[in-house]
Amino acid sequence: MRTRPLKVALLGCGVVGSEVARIMTTHADDLAQRIGAPIELAGVAVRRPSKVREGIDPALVTTDATALVKRGDIDVVVEVIGGIEPARTLITTAFEHGASVVSANKALLAQDGAALHAAAEQHGRDLYYEAAVAGAIPLIRPLRESLAGDKVNRVLGIVNGTTNFILDKMDSTGAGYQEALDEATALGYAEADPTADVEGFDAAAKAAILAGIAFHSRVRLDDVYREGMTEVTASDFASAKNMGCTIKLLAICERAGDGGSVTARVHPAMIPLTHPLASVRGAYNAVFVESDASGQLMFYGPGAGGAPTASAVLGDLVAVCRNRLSGATGPGESAYAALPVSPMGDVVTRYHISLDVADKPGVLAQVATVFAEHGVSIDTVRQTGKDGEASLVVVTHRASDASLSGTVEALRKLDTVRGVASIMRVEGE
Ligand SMILES: NC(=O)c1ccc[n+]([C@@H]2O[C@H](COP(=O)([O-])OP(=O)(O)OC[C@H]3O[C@@H](n4cnc5c(N)ncnc54)[C@H](OP(=O)(O)O)[C@@H]3O)[C@@H](O)[C@H]2O)c1
Repeated sequence: MRTRPLKVALLGCGVVGSEVARIMTTHADDLAQRIGAPIELAGVAVRRPSKVREGIDPALVTTDATALVKRGDIDVVVEVIGGIEPARTLITTAFEHGASVVSANKALLAQDGAALHAAAEQHGRDLYYEAAVAGAIPLIRPLRESLAGDKVNRVLGIVNGTTNFILDKMDSTGAGYQEALDEATALGYAEADPTADVEGFDAAAKAAILAGIAFHSRVRLDDVYREGMTEVTASDFASAKNMGCTIKLLAICERAGDGGSVTARVHPAMIPLTHPLASVRGAYNAVFVESDASGQLMFYGPGAGGAPTASAVLGDLVAVCRNRLSGATGPGESAYAALPVSPMGDVVTRYHISLDVADKPGVLAQVATVFAEHGVSIDTVRQTGKDGEASLVVVTHRASDASLSGTVEALRKLDTVRGVASIMRVEGE
């Protein structure tokens, strides 16, 4: 075993970074054996230098992250600051100064993954980011390496623990969205500003990363259709139960049409209770991968948290250090297929639509005609009426999102339709 240590610079020492530093110290001997050389924490960049950080030598702490990555003797930079800047500049500077990079930064990779991969390749260095999607769950490496000989057709997953916790609460207790969010906040599952989670931005970034890797194409955050889950109501859950379903915020990446393009989307959807994703409870994450030869695979586990996320970071760190010692680099970006991303209108799925309508003869026929005119075939209709008003629940067969949008637009124009109470896609069948 080499005795000269590999030097690691840690950018960020918060929820994830502090756990990375702790595991690096407590597992130092094992990590050295697995890598073939010891690793040494050579510097820790933070924003607030005076904060007490247990287990971290204060002499290593700096606020000058740029100087740290420019030192020239750093082998691996671990970026766990988050956000776009200064993380992006620090990562490219690290490559320029000879370091490989391990990052957990989904926002940055979904936005600028291609440029960062190009910078890594230009300088003959590694860029690993297992922790950027679904925390501890091995997903990037299985897609990038284990399934490299197969053809992935679909990736369907729960990739945000906060929203799964909220939806699970609504499902199991009958609570409304706000009540469930308040509980998630009180228990530390939701941040003070939960926008990134509940509006689906976090899941959309992960969907972009997963789609790019799964389909060997470039998919950016802007390519991902996104709907949050703040409009999901207790009555949506009641409707879902009637259909033998529950509601999850799903990230769905799939080959579209004849396979010549891909789609990536994040939205709440009904899934049958018999689908494995329906039993993913609390803040857990799970991703279902369907491919030609392997069939269906499911990856399940804690999708966030300091120690689980640090586990993924450390796995990358070991891999990158091994590459470093052997003078090799791991797989870089694979975007050779260059499949275009189709718009949401091209997505084909089933829909559950709740309408408030006038309770009088002929309404059902009028509504059915609108569906038929737009080429959307109806699977089931359920009508409940009281005092001249009725609620109509229509479940469709598979139709394109564009056809469904046209149908809903036309329905809103009918005098007998008082309102469209909810539209929910039905997935996983
Ligand atoms: N938390 C999770 O469960 C989780 C899961 C998966 C992925 N991630 C990703 O991991 C990354 C880190 O998340 P986190 O939860 O650990 O964040 P965090 O707790 O907010 O920690 C951020 C760290 O970065 C430091 N920092 C902020 N701006 C800086 C700057 N300009 N220069 C140097 N240091 C700076 C902060 O310094 P101070 O300590 O001085 O404030 C802090 O130590 C993000 O990309 C996140 O998306 C997190």
